[in-house]
Amino acid sequence: MTTDTITEGTPKTGTPVLEATGVTMRFGGLTAVRNVDLTVNAGEIVGLIGPNGAGKTTFFNCLTGLYVPTEGTVSYKGSVLPPKPHLVTKAGVARTFQNIRLFANMTVLENVLVGRHTRTKEGLWSALLRGPGFKKAEAASHARAMELLEFIGLQDKADHLARNLPYGDQRKLEIARALASDPGLLLLDEPTAGMNPQETRVTEELIFAIRDQGIAVLVIEHDMRFIFNLCDRVACLVQGEKLVEGTSEVVQGDDRVIAAYLGTPFEGAPGAEEVAEVEAAEASGAQSNTSTEGNAQ
Ligand SMILES: Nc1ncnc2c1ncn2[C@@H]1O[C@H](COP(=O)(O)OP(=O)(O)O)[C@@H](O)[C@H]1O
Ligand SMILES: [Mg+2]
Repeated sequence: MTTDTITEGTPKTGTPVLEATGVTMRFGGLTAVRNVDLTVNAGEIVGLIGPNGAGKTTFFNCLTGLYVPTEGTVSYKGSVLPPKPHLVTKAGVARTFQNIRLFANMTVLENVLVGRHTRTKEGLWSALLRGPGFKKAEAASHARAMELLEFIGLQDKADHLARNLPYGDQRKLEIARALASDPGLLLLDEPTAGMNPQETRVTEELIFAIRDQGIAVLVIEHDMRFIFNLCDRVACLVQGEKLVEGTSEVVQGDDRVIAAYLGTPFEGAPGAEEVAEVEAAEASGAQSNTSTEGNAQ
C-alpha cells in the first residue's frame, strides 16, 4: 500500500473537513432529515447509524449535491459545497452508493479510470466514448489507477469485466473508483452490506488504510461490531433526527440507541408520541375487533 500522492494538501488532524449545519430535507409532507448538524474532522472515521428509513442515505445525498437540502448548509474545508454531484466530487468529496453502481461491461481498470474524470481535463463522456483526448489523459491516469487497484487488492483483476467480479470485489472496486477522484473526504453507504465476516474484516482494514492516507471517512453501516471497531465517533439518526453522537463507547452504551434499534419507544424519542397514539389506537381497535368477532360467532 504505497499511495502517497493523496496526502498532498491534507489538513491537520482535528480541523473540520466536513461541516453540515441544520440540514433538513423534506419530500412533500415527509421530513426525511431534520435539522442535522454533523462535523467530520481531518484524520477521523465517523459512523452514521440508525434503523432503516432513518434518513441516512438522504443525508448523504444532501452532502453530495444529489439533493439540495430544504434547509441548512454543507461546507467542505471551509467552503460551501455547490449543489451539483460532479462539482462536489471535484471539490474533494467522493462517495459510494448503497446499491453498487459500476459500469458492468467495462473492465476493473476502466471503471477506476472513469472515476478519475474529475481530475483530468477530459470529461466523463470523453472517457466513456474513449475519444483521442481521453486516450492521452488515460496514459497519465493509468499508473495512478493501477496504484489504486494495488492499494485495494484488485491489481490482478484489472482486465476482468466488472460484472464478473465476486460481490465483495465489486464493493471494493466502487471504493477504488471513488478514491480515483483524489478525495479529502470519502462517504461510504453500507460498504459491507451482503459481505461475509471475512470480507467485512478486510473492508475494515481497507478503511483504516484509507484514513491513514489522510482521507477523512464518513460511513453508514448496520453492522454494529464493524462500526464500533472502526469509528472515532458515531452519530445515530432516528426518524431523520440526530439522536445521539459520541465515541463508540458512549453510543453503544446509550439506551436510546438500543431502544431505537429494538423498536422500543422511549420518553422524548422523536415520534414517540405518535407511536404511543398508534399503539393505543391499535389496542382499542383490537379490543373492539375481538368483541365484534365475539358477537359474530
Ligand atoms: N426521493 C425521495 N422521495 C420521497 N421520499 C424519499 C426519497 N428518498 C428517501 N425518501 C424517504 O426518506 C426516508 C429516509 O430514507 P433513507 O434516507 O433511504 O433512509 P436510510 O438510508 O436511513 O434507510 C424514507 O421514509 C424514504 O422513503
Ligand atoms: Mg440507506
